[in-house]
Amino acid sequence: MNTEQIRNAYLKFFEERGHAVVPRAPLVLGDDPTTLFTGSGMQPMIPYLLGEQHPDGVRLTDSQTCIRAQDIDDVGDNRHTTFFEMLGNWSLGDYFKDEQLEWIAEFMFDIVGLDPQKVYVSCYIGNDTYGIPRDNKAIELWTKIFADRGIDAKVVEIGSAENGDKLGMQGGRIFLYDGKENWWSRNGSPETTPIGDPCGPDSEMFYDFGTPHDPSFGEFCHPNCDCGRFMEIGNNVFMAYRKVTDGKFEELEQKNIDHGSGLERIAAAKLGDPDVFKISLMWPIVEKLQELSGKTYENHTESMRVIADHLRAATFLAVDGCVPSNKEQGYVMRRLLRRAIRYSFDLGIEQNFLEEIVPVIAGLYASDFPEVADNRKTIIAVLVKEEKAFRQTLRKGIAQMQKFASDGLTGAELFMLYDTYGFPVELAVEEATKQGVVLPEDWREQFDAKMQEQRERSQTAAKGTFKGGLGG
Ligand code: ALA
Repeated sequence: MNTEQIRNAYLKFFEERGHAVVPRAPLVLGDDPTTLFTGSGMQPMIPYLLGEQHPDGVRLTDSQTCIRAQDIDDVGDNRHTTFFEMLGNWSLGDYFKDEQLEWIAEFMFDIVGLDPQKVYVSCYIGNDTYGIPRDNKAIELWTKIFADRGIDAKVVEIGSAENGDKLGMQGGRIFLYDGKENWWSRNGSPETTPIGDPCGPDSEMFYDFGTPHDPSFGEFCHPNCDCGRFMEIGNNVFMAYRKVTDGKFEELEQKNIDHGSGLERIAAAKLGDPDVFKISLMWPIVEKLQELSGKTYENHTESMRVIADHLRAATFLAVDGCVPSNKEQGYVMRRLLRRAIRYSFDLGIEQNFLEEIVPVIAGLYASDFPEVADNRKTIIAVLVKEEKAFRQTLRKGIAQMQKFASDGLTGAELFMLYDTYGFPVELAVEEATKQGVVLPEDWREQFDAKMQEQRERSQTAAKGTFKGGLGG
């Protein structure tokens, strides 16, 4: 099964179990001020999880395109991407834990064919202060699911992930963690859940790639260790609560299921290779980069990963009508594009190349997402325009930076690079670090102060215009 087949098999599986297949929501949600981008499948579902009726019923499934811009600096290793697809299924007060865990196990083990020996799960350990019990029901269900597949699943209490670093695997299969790991809301643990939001304990599934533990991440390995041996492939949220005030949760009348799985990660598990860039929705982009640059992925892994990820994200932002700009979503889009272009220099690609790469990306999605096929020309035009503008100034900007950099860079100089040469400040800082240039600790404050000064100047200018143009 390749990535596209896994996506389609998932949607079909849940459709056969009474779910309406709904279209993905756009990456930019007009009515959600809490995040810049859709970062999980449940975000567009919040009103329905809280009781509003969904026009398509109480069982829904989709593949939601997501962007987690906060991961931008982690892209380059074998598993972080800013853009990904989340396979989701929801029960809006209909079925609950029994069906969800039984079905998702059937999908992962019997349909996709993942080896249950390589899958580990986690459940919520409970919290007395909040009156939320240990998730014995999920533990019992997983115990049976594994037993049915010939596995005697030992339950191990871990608590915090830091504890896990000290305790290790202990022969466990089902691991119990606290609210930092096994609680879901739009903003994480019980403590950080926004007031009024739906939330609840969850049960995650991890795939064991069997790579040796890297002790720089902690003494021992366990499913929530970040060394890369375990990759989280999916999460079952038992969304049965709502946060009322700090420290207080009330049970929702409607007990919901919110399931999300990482399509790209399931595909990597299926291939048995922890490098998500090798899957069928990514590898053709890497191949095209190899062809254009004459360089190999083996020797230029990080650059090719950054470019492939960022251009995929930027392409989907363009599909959803976003354009590069200097604020909010447009700024992130600009940063993704400019960073991809900066990395293309490391591959020796100095000519415009988006015209060659973006059609490859669009081609990978065109048959499953008609909006990609329909807007192909516009998408390419938006991205290519940004590339042309940026390449012209990039070289000058790098040269200018080297001049500034001889005695360190100030926040004011970072602002000048931003303002005159279009260097997103994070990219300039990254570049400076690469070149071993010293930055003052408060560069961000210095930069922000310059930005503020400029804003005030332009406001004054605007007021002046109105005075002259309208009043005078
Ligand atoms: N909303 C849950 C998650 O994103 C499924 O992990």
